[in-house]
Amino acid sequence: PAVQPLAGLKLMLTAGPTREALDPVRYISNHSSGKMGFALAAAARALGADVTLVSGPVSLATPAGVQRINVESAQNMYDAVMAGIDVQHIFIACAAVADYAPKIVASHKIKKTSADNMVVELTKNPDIVAAVAALQQKPFTVGFAAETRDVEKYALDKLKRKNLDMIAANDVSGSDRGFNSDQNALSVFWQGGLQHLPLADKTGLAEQLLTLIAKRYHDTH
Ligand code: PMT
Repeated sequence: PAVQPLAGLKLMLTAGPTREALDPVRYISNHSSGKMGFALAAAARALGADVTLVSGPVSLATPAGVQRINVESAQNMYDAVMAGIDVQHIFIACAAVADYAPKIVASHKIKKTSADNMVVELTKNPDIVAAVAALQQKPFTVGFAAETRDVEKYALDKLKRKNLDMIAANDVSGSDRGFNSDQNALSVFWQGGLQHLPLADKTGLAEQLLTLIAKRYHDTH
């Protein structure tokens, strides 16, 4: 577009799922395809930003002009984000990061035994968006909230608890939006404001969300 409200700004975002290894051949993950995050990366680039995309394992092509860093686990994603965050103006956390990972990663393939049940102990992963929002030199920080009920209530709780500048909430209980779908709908909240972005293709929705982010960024900087 002719107007590039993000020109001269560095924007980092996370996208896709993470994989938390159990052993050399197995992992715990989720259904994130990366479509929403990759659409945001392309839209941010089109609006003039210098974009770094930190992506979990997905089968999508890197949008033109976007710098991509591939990661696997939540810990890898945390390390990649923290290594580059100090120069960023805007950070968007769209990845579906595993909240927990297996406490012990077996160094050899776990064997089936005669027991009918198996217990895997999990341990908490670092919260990437909360860590970014807690930085002394904090970028404008946008989180996502994936909820299956009470979307608004949990989104507002995350906005506050994680010290975010903005949160985009989506309902992930159906298959017409959210995980893996080509479409999505978002309810966007910030301190003292809210905007609903109705069901649309993720590409169009990404442009609308980035336009809103650019406006809030410039209003507050
Ligand atoms: O990838 P798609 O198939 O296109 O699907 C898009 C999506 C549904 C994954 C996306 O729109 C979305 O909702 N992403 C956030 C998914 C998520 O993990 O939400 P959450 O409510 O569990 O987490 C809240 C926020 O904290 C998110 O910004 C998340 O990136 C961040 N987080 C969570 C845990 C963690 N350890 N570190 C984080 O940074």
